[in-house]
Amino acid sequence: MAKKDNKQYVCQNCGAVYPKWQGKCDACGEWNTVEEEVVGGEGFSNFNHRRAKGNLIEFVPLFGAQEHLYRLSTGIRELDRVSGGGLVPGSVILVGGDPGIGKSTLLLQACAKIADSVQGKDVFYISGEEAIDQVRLRAKRLQLEQSPVKLASSTDIKDIVATLEKASAAAVVIDSIQTMYLEDVESTPGSVTQVRACSYELIKLAKRKGFTLFLVGHVTKQGAIAGPRVLEHMVDTVLYFEGERGHHFRILRAVKNRYGATDEIGVFEMQDQGLVEVENPSALFLAERQGNISGSCVFAGIEGSRPVLVEIQALVSPTGYASPRRAVVGWDANRLSMVLAVLEARCGMNLSSQDIYLNIAGGLRISEPAADLAVAMAVISSLTNKPLPADMVIFGEIGLSGEIRSVAQPSLRLKEAQKLGFASAIIPPTHAKEKKTRVDINLYEIGNVQRLINWFN
Ligand code: TYD
Ligand code: MG
Repeated sequence: MAKKDNKQYVCQNCGAVYPKWQGKCDACGEWNTVEEEVVGGEGFSNFNHRRAKGNLIEFVPLFGAQEHLYRLSTGIRELDRVSGGGLVPGSVILVGGDPGIGKSTLLLQACAKIADSVQGKDVFYISGEEAIDQVRLRAKRLQLEQSPVKLASSTDIKDIVATLEKASAAAVVIDSIQTMYLEDVESTPGSVTQVRACSYELIKLAKRKGFTLFLVGHVTKQGAIAGPRVLEHMVDTVLYFEGERGHHFRILRAVKNRYGATDEIGVFEMQDQGLVEVENPSALFLAERQGNISGSCVFAGIEGSRPVLVEIQALVSPTGYASPRRAVVGWDANRLSMVLAVLEARCGMNLSSQDIYLNIAGGLRISEPAADLAVAMAVISSLTNKPLPADMVIFGEIGLSGEIRSVAQPSLRLKEAQKLGFASAIIPPTHAKEKKTRVDINLYEIGNVQRLINWFN
């Protein structure tokens, strides 16, 4: 977009381009995100490369021999899992997350493992945020000083590309993409134009040379990777590293993956010597559970491809306000309102004079509707001040007419529950064939919330 004065106005949130400045971005609705950027220069000649005529493209049938997808193991099983079974050469992985969550730690650990396992190729860690000494200090803390990872501190994409061009790399980490700049592009590092141009150069190189490229990206307070949304479209895989402050465990979540399933999670614990993989997340999330307490129940959920048991806690107490409080941590507040509305309308429960607090213990965020029934049960248990059996798990979705609906993969959930020593489960009634699965668990099939309350009383 060549303007006469080479200026354009770009939304720093979504990347929308405007001919003149405006306070609100029409595309994403954010205020004060549109900023002036200078365009043009050599960096963009790639995009505007002109030819007199296009070449013909070749069409092929849908069937044909498939190239075997070779995958490089990172040596960190949880990272392999979220990336879809290992790193694909030439693929680009964007790792996002709040500052201080552990992105640099995770990637340094991964680099060291990869460097140990690949032969004849190098692993490069290029930091634009930290000085060499800082990274070395971290390596020392992680006891990785002896690892053959090649470390550099640079922010100049031209230098980086020229260097990598000559190298034989297996994997490259750019920490972070927001600190990088391409000198031909005149906007400041971190701006949409810079981030896009730098990523473009690096991605092109990664595809051509066949190394796996990790880009670290910062996350805005709304949870999007700062800078352009377009970056998420340019890469093959987007991983978010998340965790609650005050909790030690961290979750690596795949939100986009061209080479594997999304919604897959990897669970880590941040310890003094770096991130440690958590083999059995359910055991971790249930570690501090105290049985025989009202308002608590265990939900058998699925995260990605694996079952995870979590404790759902509710606290119902008479309100002191005109409108009662509803506070939710780790679940969807709208979903809670819906469950409460069903309990009021279909079961005649009076919750309008009660404050309700809901918490997913341990700090995990769950998004499955399958947790409805467990949430309802926790609320009922807290309201009646009656604890549930400590060895019981619950799952099921609640419909607006109060019916309990079936959910995906019931047998996987039940098997995990059995593995962790649970002896009974409340499940939707439509899972008839699950009775045939060899789980040694007492199943209570409950068809609607009214019956659930009768059963509980
Ligand atoms: P870091 O990887 O620098 O985060 P990011 O790159 O996402 O900004 O992680 C920094 C935090 O992790 C910091 O608060 C200290 C903590 N930490 C540990 O608890 N143990 C460790 O071994 C390391 C290296 C960091
Ligand atoms: Mg960092």
